[in-house]
Amino acid sequence: MNKATISLRPDAVIGSINPRIYGSFIEHLGRAVYDGIYEPTHPSADSDGFRKDVIELVKELGVSAIRYPGGNFVSGFKWEDSVGPRDERPRRLDLAWHSTETNEIGLHEFQTWLDKVGSELMLAINLGTRGVSEALELLEYANHRGGTSLAEQRIANGRTEPFGVRMWCLGNEMDGPWQVGHSSADAYGALAAKTAQAMKMVDPDLELVVCGSSSSSMPTFGEWERVTLTHAYDDVEYISCHAYYENTGDLGSFLASGVDMDRFIQNVVATADHVKAVRGSSKTINVSFDEWNIWYNTRFEQVDRIAGIDNWPVAPRLLEDVYTVSDAVVFGSLLITLLKHADRVTSASLAQLVNVIAPIMTEPDGPAWRQTTFFPFAATSAHARGVALDLDIVSPTYSTTRFGDVAIVDAIATHDTEADRYAIYAVNRAVDSPTELTIDLTELGILDSASTVTARVLADDDLDAANTREVPERVRLADLPVTRDGAIVRIMLPAVSWAELLIG
Ligand code: AHR
Repeated sequence: MNKATISLRPDAVIGSINPRIYGSFIEHLGRAVYDGIYEPTHPSADSDGFRKDVIELVKELGVSAIRYPGGNFVSGFKWEDSVGPRDERPRRLDLAWHSTETNEIGLHEFQTWLDKVGSELMLAINLGTRGVSEALELLEYANHRGGTSLAEQRIANGRTEPFGVRMWCLGNEMDGPWQVGHSSADAYGALAAKTAQAMKMVDPDLELVVCGSSSSSMPTFGEWERVTLTHAYDDVEYISCHAYYENTGDLGSFLASGVDMDRFIQNVVATADHVKAVRGSSKTINVSFDEWNIWYNTRFEQVDRIAGIDNWPVAPRLLEDVYTVSDAVVFGSLLITLLKHADRVTSASLAQLVNVIAPIMTEPDGPAWRQTTFFPFAATSAHARGVALDLDIVSPTYSTTRFGDVAIVDAIATHDTEADRYAIYAVNRAVDSPTELTIDLTELGILDSASTVTARVLADDDLDAANTREVPERVRLADLPVTRDGAIVRIMLPAVSWAELLIG
């Protein structure tokens, strides 16, 4: 058995946790929208055609802002196609996913759905095939109160009040050769800066995200950030990071994926701060980690990718990964990593939300259920509020092929200062043995015999166990016994597990 210790220091504040760190993402891709959130013939559909069972699950998951409508999709998207009378909306080819977009759901309908789930809209604009002019038109349509042709068009289309979108993504993954309108850092940076400057002439309080790298393994990583920020530093608030991880058979390295995410964030922050220093700027650029998840991308490339000149299906089954227990443990560790950078990662989007690499799955005319990854997200979003606290962690290490020696236990603490409650999130990356985790709460000073300490765990003897349509509740959180000796708390973390400890 391994042994690890963590000590909680209430003054070791990393930063305030911006609720936007619990954001998600819905793209017009596969069955995310059609047959996902929207299925007018489903028994649970409401009068707008949205599945009420999905709405309830999204609320339970606790997502703040939702990025929309892409993703790769946005780089060929004409927003005008998706507003106005539905029967007049054009069907279009979606080059990103080799599908047909019907435009049955557009900006208005999506906002209606967001109002039902209680989330904020984070809108991405097309800088792949379009530019400054179309971005300004969308901004005016969405946010201008009235009295102009575009604002009046929105009102005529049924929305008297402006959408009031605060956060805008300036394109998507423009560094990726797969992106429609893929660009060099220099060309994209110049376009993003011009677009941002014009948008801020409409509303200087917008929060704008310039595209960073599609992953830390992109050949242009680092230089892309430096060049784009050199163009756009004064005009944006955020630079994006995207990262997906998959188990390619090397479980030890997969379990340590958080190390990659951690280095990624450190390097992007260092690059942003370098540009800040060179410019002598007093402004700080933060990170919008607006795509992160486990994604079996290899399977998509080898099996699922659609091709064929006459084959452009509507809402095909794409990227419908089924998540296992080990996937969920890595997923939970990625949330820990994001929280460790709460001072600079002030927005994040779990990619994605329904059916497409998603915590929530649905069947047409059938049930909706929670994937394994649902549980770490819902728990963290519900309880990891307030400020993130750095922990002193003493842990044995194990050797990985990708990242060298890595700590078996990783953890973060949070303090909900309003409710005066603490939470600790921990992962045990050991594959073949449990780890006894001792948590020293002496410095909290609040722990008396009346305070409660409870723990829940996600683990299973079968690391490949998953929730499916047939067995939707195979994997769930279980209570974990806690032993206490004054301010010293002990839990036993099973091999390959993620756990939450709530104090107070
Ligand atoms: O989330 C799936 C895809 O991953 C997105 O469309 C794209 O931005 C990224 O490559």
